[in-house]
Amino acid sequence: MDKILVLDFGSQTTALIGRRIRELGVYSEVIPGDTPLTDDLLSSGVFSGARGLILSGSPESVYTKEGAAPDPKVYACGLPLLGICYGLQRMTWDNGGLVEPLPKREYGGVGVSISGTATPDHWAPFLKGFKKEHFTAWMSHGDTLTRLAPGFTQIGVSDTGYPAVVIHESKPWFGLQFHPEVTHCEGGMDILSAFTFGVCCCEKSWTMERYAEELKASLAEKAGKNPALLLISGGVDSTVAGALLLKALEPGQVHLMYMDTGLMRKDETKTVRAALERLGAQQLHIVYCEAEFLSALKGLEDPEAKRRAIGDLFITIQEREVARLGLPEQYFLVQGTLYTDLIESGKGVGKKAHVIKSHHNVGSPLVDAKRKAGRIIEPLDKLYKDEVRALGRILGVEDEVVRRHPFPGPGLAVRILGEVTKEKCGILREADAVFIDELKKRRGPSGERLYDEIWQAFAALLPIRSVGVAGDVRKYGWVLALRAITSADGMTADVYPFAAKDLLEISTLITNTVPDIGRVVYDISSKPPATIEWE
Ligand code: XMP
Repeated sequence: MDKILVLDFGSQTTALIGRRIRELGVYSEVIPGDTPLTDDLLSSGVFSGARGLILSGSPESVYTKEGAAPDPKVYACGLPLLGICYGLQRMTWDNGGLVEPLPKREYGGVGVSISGTATPDHWAPFLKGFKKEHFTAWMSHGDTLTRLAPGFTQIGVSDTGYPAVVIHESKPWFGLQFHPEVTHCEGGMDILSAFTFGVCCCEKSWTMERYAEELKASLAEKAGKNPALLLISGGVDSTVAGALLLKALEPGQVHLMYMDTGLMRKDETKTVRAALERLGAQQLHIVYCEAEFLSALKGLEDPEAKRRAIGDLFITIQEREVARLGLPEQYFLVQGTLYTDLIESGKGVGKKAHVIKSHHNVGSPLVDAKRKAGRIIEPLDKLYKDEVRALGRILGVEDEVVRRHPFPGPGLAVRILGEVTKEKCGILREADAVFIDELKKRRGPSGERLYDEIWQAFAALLPIRSVGVAGDVRKYGWVLALRAITSADGMTADVYPFAAKDLLEISTLITNTVPDIGRVVYDISSKPPATIEWE
């Protein structure tokens, strides 16, 4: 199968590049940018079927020791190269050009003009990707090319006067200072498509159906007859991972363990059990541990302390309950980790991305021990959320589960600000359920349910009470914040622009249904600078 390899130098958007190529119908894989290109690797393994290489962006500068370099063989392997941002700077630096800091970092939409006219023939397939002579590209860079490497020509310049598109005169090497993979880049997909099909001559051969078949085959081969244990959180990812296991292995081999921490959404355990049983689960282990979690959280107000307490207890219970199952030592541990989980934890393929948040579900002593023993399987680790949803549909996971909004591992504890108590969990669960039910009943401007137009919605309980009136009586109720965002993958997010009528009616319904809530507010912050969860 034809593929485009992405060399990862640590940009937060590296995985997006791979995903965009897959959206074009061509398989793409991301590998560490400094992978040694041995002859073996180049003639087989991850390089088999490779028709082109993309050098990703990076938070570093090429002229510092932190700025990773590719194996020099990258420039001799004969494959077409596309450098994006740092990738272009890297190609320039490594081939005798100069890169220097900008007086002021450029970030966001910047106009680019294309001026390539009398061009060599081999440029034409690439230049076809530029549908307009002037367009708005998306930039994020603190350095610029100040001298092109010998053999390169500038064919695009930014409105701010910096080289934006650069091509080698005789080799199939191309460079963009901007990020075509970002949706805000005008015509970005046309440029990636021109490189993939025009320059690299890839055939469209990648579909989720095909990937599902490959995943099943490789899972069956790896697990053999050994038991496989999956820790289910109740979210889309682990449910889809469960469906995959149940389709790839004998149901008797598949152990699914789910912890009811008491920090779950309303009716979560019931819904998860029903969904998994419908998928054919035979060995479903539900561990009820609400009391243990509430006791570990008692008196804790600091968000990181809460996360730590939950993470530690998860580990303790996980070890205890897994030991209780008495599985033979050679069992495999399966996790529903996604690509974004790894990236946000700074554990992206190249390990060069800066850590944004430590998601507790990416590592634990049990996971680490299993990883060391080569007995961990993370079948979704190359996929984004929407790709996991597509995979879930193919595997027969019911639509309502596949469409479910993401839910954080530490559950309601990150949505109750301040100390977590059983009473507050109950209040938040009820209020959140009213909000979510309404989003499922109401339609948005596209005619879809509001729930489906929104990427993630939830309620958060603030540690504030505020005065109100109920009947003629003074009431001192909790303040509830509603959050609803649109996003492609949770890494950035925009506020969902509700019609005022919907917000007003939902607010009234919540305060009428949940008497402990006295006031409802709507969070209008995007990510960045805010995050999605409140913590
Ligand atoms: P933030 O709040 O970082 O959230 O903007 C981004 C996405 O990640 C989810 N999230 C988590 N998911 N374990 C998870 O599995 C966690 O500890 C965790 N913290 C945040 C959040 O709900 C959003 O979808």
